[in-house]
Amino acid sequence: MKNEKNDEIIEQELELQEEQTQEEITQEKETQEETTPEEETTINEEDVEIKNPEKEKVGIIDLPGVGAATAEKLESVGYRDLMSVAVATPAELVDASGMSAAVAKRMIAAARASLDMDFKSGDEVLKIRETVEKISTGSDSFNELVGGGFETGAITECFGEFGSGKTQIGHILAINAQKLDENAVVVYIDTENTFRPERIQQLAEGAGLDPTKVLKNIKVARAYNSDHQMLMAEKVEELVTKQNLPVKVVVVDSLTAHFRAEFIGRGTLAERQQKLNRHMHVLLKLADLHNICVYVTNQVMAKPDMFFGDPTQAIGGHVVAHASTFRIYLRKGKKGSRVAKLIDAPNMPDGECNFYVETGGLKDV
Ligand SMILES: Nc1ncnc2c1ncn2[C@@H]1O[C@H](COP(=O)(O)OP(=O)(O)O)[C@@H](O)[C@H]1O
Ligand SMILES: [Mg+2]
Repeated sequence: MKNEKNDEIIEQELELQEEQTQEEITQEKETQEETTPEEETTINEEDVEIKNPEKEKVGIIDLPGVGAATAEKLESVGYRDLMSVAVATPAELVDASGMSAAVAKRMIAAARASLDMDFKSGDEVLKIRETVEKISTGSDSFNELVGGGFETGAITECFGEFGSGKTQIGHILAINAQKLDENAVVVYIDTENTFRPERIQQLAEGAGLDPTKVLKNIKVARAYNSDHQMLMAEKVEELVTKQNLPVKVVVVDSLTAHFRAEFIGRGTLAERQQKLNRHMHVLLKLADLHNICVYVTNQVMAKPDMFFGDPTQAIGGHVVAHASTFRIYLRKGKKGSRVAKLIDAPNMPDGECNFYVETGGLKDV
């Protein structure tokens, strides 16, 4: 099976396909560029402002030292709103647009000043925490591991080898979000063509829900490359603010596969990380501003120089690790079970649990 090929073979194949893939990417980029302006004209800016009165009133173009050309340049590499500029470093902006460091610094300062980036008091934060909901995994021990379920307002990452259950968990969250709230909308950004409506039907039946209704509330986007994936993530914002959809879960399965395939070799690593960083910020913002449970899946790569412990590590390095609120390592366990290991969580001890993936959902061992 293709899935069982080891990383090395896949990497080699990717290298061979590189030229071809690059061609496809440029072609697809061109198509995207053609369609984007049309799509943008359909955004009713007034609506957006009413929903979000204190934010996004000014755009990048309104910042000091930014003319139309610079704004366009910045937007073309992903700096589409003030927040992305506010959290950028001067060097990143210089790289992206060729502006001077002094202008970049002034721009960042202005972006920060115009955003609501003030401190909140502890009790205000506690109030916000009270709005957090937990989406059940269907397994008591797994829920216990993560403090009751996958949290809204946070990014949860599962990484692990092929077949470890990452995609299954994405499907299960899509159902259990609707168990929590029957009108909840789930966005599924599918980069590997592994979303299966039939599987959703099975799991919905297992959870005692109407499969047709459940499927209706899942919005699936098949993303063909990393640009496409980033664009789809950005469009979720519109679903919430423009279409008023109660989006509860956003699944990105897989978060890193396209990035890994498109940026091959050491020379492109910095560029890949920068792009991935912007993607993570879009997802973080979705989680934060709209109290959405963002679930991302990630692959592992072999660490051939490691002799003790588990010789695998997640793709995406610090960029993904820092942006994910909860990190879970999944692997195959005894007798067909799966093991989930909590690697990183803000207020839960690290730990492990076992479960089975079954037709109707996750089951405790
Ligand atoms: N309908 C099903 N009933 C029971 N187990 C299933 C079903 N579908 C998938 N699985 C289990 O899930 C595994 C695939 O997990 P998956 O989430 O696709 O892995 P990953 O996304 O980590 O590569 C299969 O090997 C199988 O064990
Ligand atoms: Mg998968």
